[in-house]
Amino acid sequence: MGSTVAFHLAELESAAGEARSLDGRDYGPITPLLHDDSISEVMVNGAGQIYIERKGQLFLSDVTFGSEADLIRVIREIAAFVGRRIDDDSPMVDCRLPDGSRVNAIIPPLAIDGPSLTIRKFARDPFTVQDLISFGTMTAEAAGFLEACVKAHFNVLVAGGTGSGKTTTLNVLSSFIPDTERVVTIEDAAELQLRQPHKVRLESRPARIDGSGRISIRDLVVNALRMRPDRIVIGECRSGEALDMLQAMNTGHDGSLTTVHANSPRDTLARLETLVLMSGVDLPQRAIREQIASAIHLIVQQARLRDGSRRVTNITEVVGREGDTITLQDVFLFEETGMDGNGRLQGKLSPTGIRPNAMAKIYSKRVAISPALAALFPDRKAPDFTVGVRR
Ligand SMILES: Nc1ncnc2c1ncn2[C@@H]1O[C@H](COP(=O)(O)OP(=O)(O)OP(=O)(O)O)[C@@H](O)[C@H]1O
Ligand SMILES: [Mg+2]
Repeated sequence: MGSTVAFHLAELESAAGEARSLDGRDYGPITPLLHDDSISEVMVNGAGQIYIERKGQLFLSDVTFGSEADLIRVIREIAAFVGRRIDDDSPMVDCRLPDGSRVNAIIPPLAIDGPSLTIRKFARDPFTVQDLISFGTMTAEAAGFLEACVKAHFNVLVAGGTGSGKTTTLNVLSSFIPDTERVVTIEDAAELQLRQPHKVRLESRPARIDGSGRISIRDLVVNALRMRPDRIVIGECRSGEALDMLQAMNTGHDGSLTTVHANSPRDTLARLETLVLMSGVDLPQRAIREQIASAIHLIVQQARLRDGSRRVTNITEVVGREGDTITLQDVFLFEETGMDGNGRLQGKLSPTGIRPNAMAKIYSKRVAISPALAALFPDRKAPDFTVGVRR
């Protein structure tokens, strides 16, 4: 234990020292792309091909590296910033730039056509709920419903494919957590940007070259439970930590939030089952489904549509179980209506007309809700249907 702590402190000190010396540093030809706030992602596929993402669309840039050696040099410098190296023994690296941008690098022979560098730019000014509404990712009504669900301590899963906007939506959902609550966030590479004053941010650590020293998301979830959290926000569940998270949700840590890689609400349940099995704990399928059905209250399904836009496609309640099947109910559903002249998909995330079970708890907990949401799902117990409405 002592040596682990010493190692970590040494690593932190060296990272901090290098951070100062790396200020304003030169990333070769991609430096201007990294400084351009309109670019959200930079993808280097070998020295001669660099793509960028801007407003959800991919473009081939006119920038190239002079040679593979130049590209490798930049990758090495980036890795060195966090005390990592990239070479034959360790040909893949996940790390962050000093500004928080997320980096993955992988070199030959694993990357067949040359070193590959992928940089997800850190959003200096992260999207707010208003941004997501103005982009058409969700409607004000849907956002109001999600806000009420977070405030009422529902456990919420954001699901979607790669780059569908899961982390961004998780960040927005986290912004609904009241300032009075203690939040512990757990991530592989810290991306969440919570504004709340009372938070503790934890980040996992990969193994050293000799395989030692790894601290997994799972270790951090177990540790977080000893930190008296009101909320646990896990950046992404991609392995056995799903079991610890479900258990936490089922044992009084309601109001936890996370994301899962899955393409539909039904697929999300199947994915969770697989992740629980990855924990190595031998649980019968029925028991796993019971845990999932009682732990997860809401699934927010996201997708990156073919025009590059990110949309919430379903807001789905986990209603319960019928035999071995978990029952789901869509509360909001996105319907595509066509394409406009600029190639933008048209459609709307509309209420399905089903009154969510969640509303009973939202009203009984007296969570303040928007008039639009109260009009959509009135409080049946209030004689004038206005109790709890925010004015
Ligand atoms: N609602 C949105 N509208 C437009 N762009 C968005 C939206 N949400 C996210 N983005 C942009 O899409 C990119 C991916 O977002 P994000 O990191 O949230 O996705 P993700 O699903 O978590 O990705 P990954 O699978 O890599 O973890 C970012 O550049 C982000 O700025
Ligand atoms: Mg993500």
